[in-house]
Amino acid sequence: MAIPSIAIYGMGRFGRALAGALPEGVLVRTGGRSRAPHGYEDLHAQGPAAFMHDLKAELVILSVPDDALETVAAELAAQPGAVGRFYVHTSGARGADAIIALADSDIGVFHILQSFPLEGGSALIPGSYATVAGEPKLVGVLRELAEVLKLTVLEQPDPFDHAAYHAAAVLASNALIALLDTGCQLLMQAGIPAAQAEKMLIPLAQGTLQNAQSQGLLDALTGPVARGDVGTIQQHLSILTGESRQAYIAMMLSVADTAARSGRTPSDKLSEIRRLLTQT
Ligand SMILES: NC(=O)c1ccc[n+]([C@@H]2O[C@H](COP(=O)([O-])OP(=O)(O)OC[C@H]3O[C@@H](n4cnc5c(N)ncnc54)[C@H](OP(=O)(O)O)[C@@H]3O)[C@@H](O)[C@H]2O)c1
Repeated sequence: MAIPSIAIYGMGRFGRALAGALPEGVLVRTGGRSRAPHGYEDLHAQGPAAFMHDLKAELVILSVPDDALETVAAELAAQPGAVGRFYVHTSGARGADAIIALADSDIGVFHILQSFPLEGGSALIPGSYATVAGEPKLVGVLRELAEVLKLTVLEQPDPFDHAAYHAAAVLASNALIALLDTGCQLLMQAGIPAAQAEKMLIPLAQGTLQNAQSQGLLDALTGPVARGDVGTIQQHLSILTGESRQAYIAMMLSVADTAARSGRTPSDKLSEIRRLLTQT
């Protein structure tokens, strides 16, 4: 099965990353509320009417904010010639029903489990995971697209807990950034200049991710909780205040759960650590 001709509505982070990763000739139109991003001037149509006018695409991909999906689907569905193609949205938080206004055609989901910046996101697509949903014919098309993009693809089971799936993605990506930011503030508290603090936790996080990939999550866990070093946790708690203290306590309780599952930490030490964390 060859991949279909594609149009993308919503040229933000996801839309641009995907557009840049598609093989030449596959992308026939881009669109959205705004004018064309740099490099897409020839393909771009502003607004739903211009986007749908004489559109030759077999697959239309809506990559607009989650909260705009219903509105945008209704706008596209109201245009002449809307029926008779595939429509998917790219949100991990919603099912195909988010674009139910387009249900006279085949509707589905094409979510890539990755964090795309505004520029340069295409390079992150190969090797990422994607999950797809829809009727079998549409899923076949999306699997083909995923293969061309070098994604590892999974079909979303039915039923599928979108909230749990998306919360996992948010923790692995957005929460990681917030933790690094909190860590950066603490490095500055320790006396390290801001310019260095911003950079020096990145190789540590990268090493940790590498360990998680090569050894699995449980074996990758190091540090005072896994070792049962109660005194070190006490030392941390003695200087932490405000939001960094709250973040530390919430995360170390979670680390204690992971350590317990790893089976490497003596249970009396874990109890002591949990007591310290919950009594402060
Ligand atoms: N970024 C990621 O890492 C990522 C990863 C996986 C999935 N996703 C999903 O991809 C979708 C898009 O996310 P994003 O991060 O790419 O968002 P984004 O960077 O904010 O881009 C959204 C795009 O949609 C357009 N838009 C907003 N409201 C619109 C409307 N009512 N009508 C037409 N166009 C509208 C915006 O154009 P304007 O300039 O007109 O506002 C913008 O081009 C979301 O469902 C998100 O969950 C994102």
